[in-house]
Amino acid sequence: MAFIVLLAAAAAIAFLLHFVTKNHRSCSTYNLPPGNLGIPVIGQTFSLLHALRTNTDDQWFRTRIKRYGPVSKMSVLGSPTVLLAGTGANHFIFTNEGLILTQTRALRSLLRRSILTLTGDELKQVRSALQGYLRPEMVRRYVGKMDGEVRRQLKLNWVGRNTVNVLPLARSLTLGVICSVIFGEEASAIVDALATDFQLLGDAILSFPVNIPFTRFGKGMRSSANIRETIVMFAKKREESLLDERCTISTTDFVTYMLVLRSKGAHSLTLEDIVDNVMGIIIGAHGTTSALITFMMRHLANEPDVLAKITEEQDEIANKKGKDGALTWEDVSSMKYTWRVAFETLRTVPPVFGSFRTATKDIAYQGYHIPKGWKVFAAQSITHMDSRFFTEPTKFDPSRFEKRSSIPPYSFLPFGGGPRMCPGTEFSRVETMVAMHYLVTQFRWKLCFKDEAYKKDPKPTPVFGCPVELELREPPTMTHDA
Ligand code: HEM
Repeated sequence: MAFIVLLAAAAAIAFLLHFVTKNHRSCSTYNLPPGNLGIPVIGQTFSLLHALRTNTDDQWFRTRIKRYGPVSKMSVLGSPTVLLAGTGANHFIFTNEGLILTQTRALRSLLRRSILTLTGDELKQVRSALQGYLRPEMVRRYVGKMDGEVRRQLKLNWVGRNTVNVLPLARSLTLGVICSVIFGEEASAIVDALATDFQLLGDAILSFPVNIPFTRFGKGMRSSANIRETIVMFAKKREESLLDERCTISTTDFVTYMLVLRSKGAHSLTLEDIVDNVMGIIIGAHGTTSALITFMMRHLANEPDVLAKITEEQDEIANKKGKDGALTWEDVSSMKYTWRVAFETLRTVPPVFGSFRTATKDIAYQGYHIPKGWKVFAAQSITHMDSRFFTEPTKFDPSRFEKRSSIPPYSFLPFGGGPRMCPGTEFSRVETMVAMHYLVTQFRWKLCFKDEAYKKDPKPTPVFGCPVELELREPPTMTHDA
């Protein structure tokens, strides 16, 4: 026992020395940005995590910017990190070729060889395949599936309830939607079996990667293994049926799509790699869109004028399609006001709070050096809540998105930017519009806690899950024969 303690202490001292000397070396040869790296290894990690957990991160960033300016150094999760602020900084972080997407060690272990962790040619191949799968012409074909899944979930989990917790139900809904597209008919069995595992996997992404059973990370690793096992079985069946039936690319399930692309030489991923990418997409898709839907519902409960306008838009569509008709691509495309409300929600409560990159070489920015290996970080709220770009930034005002051209470039980035920009933008737009259509036309709701606090964990998470009192709404008056 004493030996193990001694060994651990020696390892910790070696690690600290390595960290201190690394920074000392850097400090002496570079013109580093102002700021401090704090206590070795720990740096500002706990302070920033605390700010995220108390939803005071925006103030935290602004305090640093006021003190050190728009380029400053700090240390987060054991890495020296440069905090950047402003539209120019956003442009730099999303487009500079010397910066690559940074993932936590936990995420790399949980999602192995997915788009979120690959680099070089493999990344290019997967991105191109995924962009093809999620391009507007393809998403158009998924509208019917999304419509069916949203209606199924509302009937199952919302209708007939007096009170519901919005966040968990929105998570279940978005998991159901992405799985119904990715897995086709077998989706509901997979979702039923894996919903909890996906939740635990998502929770583990920002955890310390110590694989002990009762920790967040340990639970996440177990869930990741369960999910992988189930999806590998699904993928093997698809591989066999593809050999038998000569399937074509017209199918919407992602595994078949990737297998067909492989047979055409578009990539060389193994079946296991394809499965890792299925997991990567589901993780990218469902926590983000469910946060958007949850906070849209919360805003609508507090903004009667906005709710009235959305209702008008959605009732008109409901009238046109009749009670049982499914939404079409054209219906979704006409939901202009509802999408503006979504944008304003994304501005005020972005589901992804910021972006981390790693410098692959020494880089200069605004006269400062960013040494190779350092991290670079930009938070979305810094420009989203800046009155130079959005007047009265704390006011919820969807009309500011009426003229998109008036929004300065790189000031509004809920989906990121540059070559790693979210490939799921269109998918999330359509899914959110379909969900809001049925929520607004079928229900009215009142927040159980009007000013419920929320934390970033790392997605925005209302502390009680956003409970609401729910009422069925009278169906909209029909203006013509359906
Ligand atoms: C409201 C919904 C969503 C938001 C706000 C959002 C936001 C983002 C952001 C900000 C990034 C880039 C992170 C960075 O550069 O640091 C990203 C990446 C990604 N998103 Fe989304 N996302 C949403 C929905 C979706 C959906 C529906 C899908 C899939 C169907 C998806 C799949 C992905 C993937 C695979 C990546 C990684 C891309 C890469 O690394 O090259 N997202 N998302």
